[in-house]
Amino acid sequence: MGVTISLMNQKGGVGKTTLAVHIGVGLAALGYKVAMIDMDPQGQLLVSLALDSMGDDDEGIFNLLVNGYALEDTLRQVPEDRFKGYVEGRDSGTLTLLPGGQRTQLAALDMQLRGADFNILRQAFEPLQTENHFVIVDTPPTLSLFTPAILGASNYVIIPTELDRLGIDGVEKFMGTVINLSGMHSAQVMAILPTRTKPQTREHLDRAAELSTKFPGLVWTDYGITESTLWKEASDAGLPVFGYAPAHQAADQAWRVVGRVLEVVQKANG
Ligand SMILES: Nc1ncnc2c1ncn2[C@@H]1O[C@H](COP(=O)(O)OP(=O)(O)OP(=O)(O)O)[C@@H](O)[C@H]1O
Ligand SMILES: [Mg+2]
Repeated sequence: MGVTISLMNQKGGVGKTTLAVHIGVGLAALGYKVAMIDMDPQGQLLVSLALDSMGDDDEGIFNLLVNGYALEDTLRQVPEDRFKGYVEGRDSGTLTLLPGGQRTQLAALDMQLRGADFNILRQAFEPLQTENHFVIVDTPPTLSLFTPAILGASNYVIIPTELDRLGIDGVEKFMGTVINLSGMHSAQVMAILPTRTKPQTREHLDRAAELSTKFPGLVWTDYGITESTLWKEASDAGLPVFGYAPAHQAADQAWRVVGRVLEVVQKANG
């Protein structure tokens, strides 16, 4: 049975999608079978994985939950060249995308109106968990009707955050949400992951210390992702940093996060 990891933070622009893509691509490059699910109505995983739009078929979540499509008819196989060859001596695995788009919001409303319970996503995604080693879920920068359902479908949550006042405020709010909804899920916060960091600054050090005091053991201060224009350049080129600039610090930091995620999951599963 695979492990489902959601990238969540109700604050926008903190690197959820970027990290989701790099964790997904990195694990697939290492040989794992990976499914990615786009729960964000912005639907950016499709573009981030350099897949062509297929019109109505881009609305995978809506088609699955409302239009009654079979799960396999909502999935897109990501071509091997998007993740192959980044790790020498390793055969790549597979990468599958369940895309989402603007109508994901309607699917949430539909769930509410029908009185469907929050287990709806866990049940809908279960076959993906059975068939893959990892399921990586990208989520929107807002709380939505789906928030408890996403938590309910997740084994782990990673919370990317910037190390500034608003970032810490966002983490506190989101941790509050996780706790408030604790009766509805058993997701575990794997990491509060500093992103877009400016490691040499006073604020960085102070905020990192503040977060670690507030959330002992959860802040991955040694695995932070430094602010760099390379991330956007790679994204504009339609490539993960692994392929765009493999020798750059950004690629190294992304691999370290992938490695750490693997370590935590492997340790938990004996
Ligand atoms: N470490 C970084 N340094 C600089 N830019 C970054 C970094 N990580 C991500 N970015 C850029 O910041 C922007 C926002 O990143 P991303 O889309 O991953 O955030 P998000 O949390 O998914 O946003 P949203 O809340 O809108 O879904 C993108 O242009 C991305 O390329
Ligand atoms: Mg995003």
